[in-house]
Amino acid sequence: MKVLITGISGRVGANLAFQLLRKGYEVRGVIFPGDPKIEKVRKLGVEIYEADMNDAESIYQACNGVDAIVHLAAQMKQGNSTVQRMCEINALGTLNVLEGAVRSSRKVQSVLFAGTDQAYHPFVSDRTTFYEDHPQQPIDIYALTKLMSEQMLYTYQRQYKLPIKIMRFGSVIAGDEPLELFYPAWLDLYVNQEWTAPGRAPWFGADKVEAARTAVAEALKTPNGVCAVTDAEGNSWGLPFTDVRDTVAGIILVLESKDAVGQAFNLVGPAATPFVKVAQLIAANTDRPYLEVKMPFLWWFNVSNAKARSILGYQPQYTYEDMLQAALAFRRGEDIGVVPV
Ligand SMILES: NC(=O)c1ccc[n+]([C@@H]2O[C@H](COP(=O)([O-])OP(=O)(O)OC[C@H]3O[C@@H](n4cnc5c(N)ncnc54)[C@H](O)[C@@H]3O)[C@@H](O)[C@H]2O)c1
Repeated sequence: MKVLITGISGRVGANLAFQLLRKGYEVRGVIFPGDPKIEKVRKLGVEIYEADMNDAESIYQACNGVDAIVHLAAQMKQGNSTVQRMCEINALGTLNVLEGAVRSSRKVQSVLFAGTDQAYHPFVSDRTTFYEDHPQQPIDIYALTKLMSEQMLYTYQRQYKLPIKIMRFGSVIAGDEPLELFYPAWLDLYVNQEWTAPGRAPWFGADKVEAARTAVAEALKTPNGVCAVTDAEGNSWGLPFTDVRDTVAGIILVLESKDAVGQAFNLVGPAATPFVKVAQLIAANTDRPYLEVKMPFLWWFNVSNAKARSILGYQPQYTYEDMLQAALAFRRGEDIGVVPV
């Protein structure tokens, strides 16, 4: 069985290719022209197609003759890109994949798409758990392009009976990334650049911006610190971090399951992890100083993986502690069975 992976040079794509090859699949990958990670993909020993996701003809060619497509390519951070470029890559790119699937000379058995928990608008203070049927309400262009893509998949399912499958990931990390979280610069990026960018309405309330900025400025005095972020009362922030090995195991279950056709699945780690616990683990295992950061609001959400567990038999294994141990082993040069980012 031949599988096309878009975004094969990425965190998830390279690890998916690695595991599919081990299982005996043939793998073809799309990489964009000039991708600095081409050597990482060459080492995997897959068939490579060079194409920008907005290049319809090249994407059609890449899709032609495969049995299944796992569409992972996307730009997650807007950075200096225009909104038009984000839409070209993430939304038009999805349209090109779907068209490629229906035009393929071989019947495509399934098209899998990487959605995101970010489209649920998970910027909440009330520890909401998001199930797949929760309304998707993007608050940025990235999440909007993911929701647009999901709608494109459902449209192609209705119009062409294309067997589509949607996966929603959350906070996927690989290699030594579990040791590299929660720098003050990360908090600065979110608080000062993304959430309070000019013209944006901060989700946590405009009245709290000044206090949030003050807390971040204080943290930035220790650039190497690991931020144990809490609200003003000391309640830890928390997110559902996911080990890339769990993500890949979930994708393969989706790929191989007939019951997944036409369905969306949250593929996330075992449970939300409190920032304070993560910070304690990182500080205890590195020379990064532990920093208590009190923000004027709570950010904690959970994403349910119950549907994937019950329909697919998905069993995410890796707690943050496990991820950290693997990251330490990775830094010691041990083989942890993961292709680094
Ligand atoms: N990593 C996460 O925490 C997370 C969370 C939710 C959803 N997702 C989604 O999962 C997918 C995989 O994530 P990842 O962590 O591997 O991302 P990544 O950034 O590591 O990889 C993205 C891939 O897309 C490719 N790409 C980007 N622009 C392209 C273009 N113009 N043309 C062709 N290819 C292009 C990159 O080369 C790379 O191979 C993405 O669609 C992402 O939006 C990821």
